[in-house]
Amino acid sequence: MIIIETIDEIDNLNEEKAFIPTMGALHAGHISLVNRAKEFNLPIWMSIFVNKLQFNETNDFNTYPRDIERDIGFAKAAGVDVLFIPSDEYVYRNRNGVEKDYALSAGDIGKKLEGRSRLGHFDGVLNVVDRLLIDVQPRYSLLGRKDAQQFFIVSTMLKDRHNEVRFIACPIIREDNGLALSSRNSLLSNKGKKAANCLFRTLSNIAHEKDLKPFLTQSILDEQFYSEKAKGVKLDYIAFVDANSFERTSKHDYRSSNLIEVAKEFYILIAAEVEGVRLIDNMFIRYEGGESLSFDLGVIKEEHIRINA
Ligand code: PAJ
Repeated sequence: MIIIETIDEIDNLNEEKAFIPTMGALHAGHISLVNRAKEFNLPIWMSIFVNKLQFNETNDFNTYPRDIERDIGFAKAAGVDVLFIPSDEYVYRNRNGVEKDYALSAGDIGKKLEGRSRLGHFDGVLNVVDRLLIDVQPRYSLLGRKDAQQFFIVSTMLKDRHNEVRFIACPIIREDNGLALSSRNSLLSNKGKKAANCLFRTLSNIAHEKDLKPFLTQSILDEQFYSEKAKGVKLDYIAFVDANSFERTSKHDYRSSNLIEVAKEFYILIAAEVEGVRLIDNMFIRYEGGESLSFDLGVIKEEHIRINA
């Protein structure tokens, strides 16, 4: 594995590659993206860059877990070929002669759900991923479904700017008890981690509802959360969205209230705060019409992606 800080250190930049952008503090969720990337038989690039533009709270940025030596070990063991660790100066360098050209905006979708609680977050994500893609020029870019709204925004809004890139969504990797892996989990006490597990239990209960439909009412979702709610867990939102628009999952004729359209793929999204740490999780569901629904809650951490943290 080679480690680079700038793209100039690479001679054959034209070579096709699969790319995984991260903010480090690597865990088995990140490693699962590396494993998925191996299927393309191309060199695997990973970036580690804690992007201050996407943090709306200075404290969150300052306390974000960082351990670059450990990350280098994990990336190497996982099979990363090129580890790109740029500096702030390099990523935020003046491009196109424009003093401050962080011009991309995630628009309205960037202001709802996660964006509503983290103002400017998705603008920051969009600008940094755009910059990394300009530098790295990958063929594939792999992102986790854990950050479903991020995947939607990045893959739709950067599609035209990066025609050659295919964005690949990868399933959520979870602890044995179902808690979705996240770099922020390391900020939780054992008690907090246990409490945080109610996010997964809520999603799992909804998935097993015999009447699961793309248009369950909000009150059923809320009910499921409050029946599992652990002490100290503060719900921000639980919502249904069409996975391909992040809009409502069903449309009704407003006069007859007859259903006229139903999402074929959708998410149940959940966000909550535990011990001051913001956590998100979701479930991806496919609706084949009639009674036919399948859901994907992700995978429990498997042996081959278990890393000793
Ligand atoms: P980070 O939180 O480090 O996540 C990097 C990638 O790993 C993202 O695509 C994320 O969805 C994925 N990931 C995280 N936890 C996962 C899990 N449990 N299962 C599967 N995939 C998981 O997301 C970011 O960094 C940043 O916003 C970034 C895209 C790098 C831009 O700064």
